[in-house]
Amino acid sequence: MAYPQGFIQELKMRSPVQDVIGRYVELKRAGRNLVGRCPFHSEKTPSFTVFEDNFHCFGCGAGGDVITFAMRIENLDYKDAVTFLADRCGMTVPQEDRRYSNIEKPKLSRERAFSMNKAAARIFYDNLASPEGEVARQYLANRNLEAATIKRFGLGYAKNEFYDLYNKLSALGYTKDEIKENFLCGISQKSGKPFDMFRNRIMFPIIDTSGNVIAFGGRVLDDSKPKYLNSSDTVVFRKGKQLFALNYAKDVLLGNVESKLVKSGEIILCEGYMDVIAMHQAGFTNAVATLGTAITAEHARVVSRYAKTAFLAYDSDDAGRKAADKAMTLLNEVGVDTKIIRMQNAKDPDEYIKKFGAESYAKLLSGSVGQIDFKLNGVLSKYNMNNPDEKLRAVDECCKVISSIYSEVKQDIYIQRLSEITGVKTESIRSMISRDKRKSAGKVKAERRADTEKKTMHFDDRINPEAIANPVAVEIEERILGIILLMPEEYAKCDAISKDDFVTSFSARVFGAVTDLYKENITDLTPLNEMFTPEEVARIFDMRFKRSELSANGTAALNEQIAALKKEKMKAAAKTKNISSDEDLINLISKARKDKGIN
Ligand code: UTP
Ligand code: MN
Repeated sequence: MAYPQGFIQELKMRSPVQDVIGRYVELKRAGRNLVGRCPFHSEKTPSFTVFEDNFHCFGCGAGGDVITFAMRIENLDYKDAVTFLADRCGMTVPQEDRRYSNIEKPKLSRERAFSMNKAAARIFYDNLASPEGEVARQYLANRNLEAATIKRFGLGYAKNEFYDLYNKLSALGYTKDEIKENFLCGISQKSGKPFDMFRNRIMFPIIDTSGNVIAFGGRVLDDSKPKYLNSSDTVVFRKGKQLFALNYAKDVLLGNVESKLVKSGEIILCEGYMDVIAMHQAGFTNAVATLGTAITAEHARVVSRYAKTAFLAYDSDDAGRKAADKAMTLLNEVGVDTKIIRMQNAKDPDEYIKKFGAESYAKLLSGSVGQIDFKLNGVLSKYNMNNPDEKLRAVDECCKVISSIYSEVKQDIYIQRLSEITGVKTESIRSMISRDKRKSAGKVKAERRADTEKKTMHFDDRINPEAIANPVAVEIEERILGIILLMPEEYAKCDAISKDDFVTSFSARVFGAVTDLYKENITDLTPLNEMFTPEEVARIFDMRFKRSELSANGTAALNEQIAALKKEKMKAAAKTKNISSDEDLINLISKARKDKGIN
């Protein structure tokens, strides 16, 4: 699946990292690099760095080149990430060069998954109109859904049968493995026979922003459990990232279509499918929902690409309030303002609209307050402003709230306002805020240090699981790989080492892949994205990055490390005893700690 080198080079040239990443992350200049808040984990202080044509996160270890980034952020495989970037800069993807095509492919391709889902959605939709669909039609009518709404959302019905969908998909040529992998059938443990996963349920197709059906949610028609069944993650679906109905909401969010009730850039986040559908039917076409899961940092990131303000229309119960709290934090971290909608006498938006109508709901929206105002009002009303001591405490607490705002402009607005309310000079407020910021930055640094130590010890290393048993060898291996990755010309001078000299199989694999590329005169590391997972690529780029920070590089250093590795390899081979007990493991760890001078 490899592409001609010239194509990849041009693609990378036309896709500068800062531009591609800049669409997802607000980047600020810091010396020679750009920094921002990492899109792959939740953080307040920027540890995500873009340098030359790579990125690296000091917080979570994510890293790689522009293609690794596209793979991770858009959840694409290598081929789709290349196409995605090519589309972006108007290039045509050439025929594959088959040299590296002996890579194992997943059983179900993305194209097949999309077409299977589309066929399934059609089947469910047709079922709804069939005689067996009467119960479902009745159910939807009871829930006040109009025919146009049902059609727009492509709602359907999974019959109360075990092989309906399975047989129909088989007839279309989909194999048992493919259907299973796409979560549309299960396999009976007893008989080994496949059976439909969704039975006797109202079906909600989940559609991505490109219009592909990527998954389904299915609701029972009565009170049985589970109320909703959702597709598990598949090749085309990651539930921690998808928002239901974003495919419909995106046009009005981006201002491509006008709407009476909706302003562009304002999104409504609900808890459930039915809430979203009821809202759209009532004219709030900017409503979306997470899918059978609480909001994640990735969801927040997606929201930030479509909206500046999010109205949280969560249920009015305890769980809903907790969910709203989490959403506020995560959205705030990506620079999205949140407003909380508080409903009375209805448990969720669907019920509210049914009871009180769309106009009342519009009033709730316009009356909702922002979280910063909400918090500041809370603090200010707690203290007596005529008492200097209490006033100081109030200002102190307000500063903490304001220091959590990422946007500097917005911070400024609140600083002004706080100064007007309390009569404290803006300069004094500003200095209190920078003190709060320094404090939280210190905390982040300490956490990072602890993390780094954990990493050097290779506890819980999933990328190279053999590292914990071979800490010294791994360190040498990574030094060698770092030099080779950083300076391809150095490697060319050296043939004193082969794949078999490596102790851990991950390092051997990296060495093998990199030398294969160099033998073809390819020094650009992009093809590694095809052979390794984005997490593995991050580790590989990290080895190179660490090397680039050291001064002792070059052939001399390389030869020295190779000699050391050969010694380690002999030791490892002589180690007849395997780690079999906890005691062995503890001994190994304490030896490794001693070797590194850590107590
Ligand atoms: P709710 O229980 O609040 O249901 O779950 P709802 O959305 O109000 O649904 P109706 O009105 O009874 O039909 C909220 C969301 O949580 C997820 C679904 O995404 C649902 O829309 N959920 C709930 C599940 O994934 N599984 C469940 O069993 C229940
Ligand atoms: Mn409901």
